[in-house]
Amino acid sequence: MSITELTPDYRGLIDLTGRHVLVLGGGLGIGRQTCLAAAGVGAKVSVVDADRKRAEAVAEEVGGLALTGDATVRADVERIFGDAVERFGPVHGIADIIGIADNGPLGDVTDELWQRGLDLNLRHAFLALQIGAKAMPEGGAMVFVGSVSGLRSAPGHAVYGVAKAGLSNLVSTACLELGPGIRANVVAPGQTATPRIAERHPEPGYYERAGARVPLGRVGATSDIASAILFFLTDLSAWITGQTLVVDGGTGRKFAYAES
Ligand SMILES: NC(=O)c1ccc[n+]([C@@H]2O[C@H](COP(=O)([O-])OP(=O)(O)OC[C@H]3O[C@@H](n4cnc5c(N)ncnc54)[C@H](O)[C@@H]3O)[C@@H](O)[C@H]2O)c1
Repeated sequence: MSITELTPDYRGLIDLTGRHVLVLGGGLGIGRQTCLAAAGVGAKVSVVDADRKRAEAVAEEVGGLALTGDATVRADVERIFGDAVERFGPVHGIADIIGIADNGPLGDVTDELWQRGLDLNLRHAFLALQIGAKAMPEGGAMVFVGSVSGLRSAPGHAVYGVAKAGLSNLVSTACLELGPGIRANVVAPGQTATPRIAERHPEPGYYERAGARVPLGRVGATSDIASAILFFLTDLSAWITGQTLVVDGGTGRKFAYAES
């Protein structure tokens, strides 16, 4: 059939049956939800986390494989992909969720914090792209979690913002080098209700107040972000690569002085 007449089985485009998806940082929050999403449409899921208990708990939930290691350490990432391929075969999808914004104001950023911020938000993506691509001989899709902080600025987010901005550029370069076999995209969430953020803000009504400023009326759920990641992991996005998709309920569309 010629490409001008191509009409796919649209239901089948989201089906990951028989495909192997590896989730870095899959033990909690957006990562756990991504594991549930990929397994929900048929994927075999390798759940990778630095915390063994979290990886094992999510792997049990999705009938997947638990793998433990530090995604910023080359030897760990090589071992993780080696073990995943040995057990579940070639990888078809990688979702890298890892990242944390804990850097503080620029004046207080020590050399150690600067390096740690870059490692925890960027280095693992470099390793996942480089080492992960070799585990994907049949091609597939990689998705990285960025942040709206990589596109705009917020006080205290200097290192985090630089790393997340760098992530988008790294992925856009990778899409040129890894295509046509492998696609690579970024999902950039706005404020999302994750267990880690809930722990940091236990005050009652925190999410309700934050949600009131969002055009879609609430902060993000981990499933909102996992849905966008799933879109990029499946053939629904077969002709999309190198992009950063903002998933923020419309918040970034507002002028700073617009009424909420
Ligand atoms: N929650 C938000 O409002 C928000 C907004 C924008 C972007 N994000 C981004 O979303 C992503 C996920 O956020 P979250 O709050 O769900 O994450 P999280 O911190 O709750 O979970 C990440 C998981 O990754 C694991 N992990 C951390 N470092 C690791 C390492 N070096 N190697 C292996 N595993 C490691 C942790 O053990 C944890 O289980 C991050 O990249 C974050 O920057 C979150």
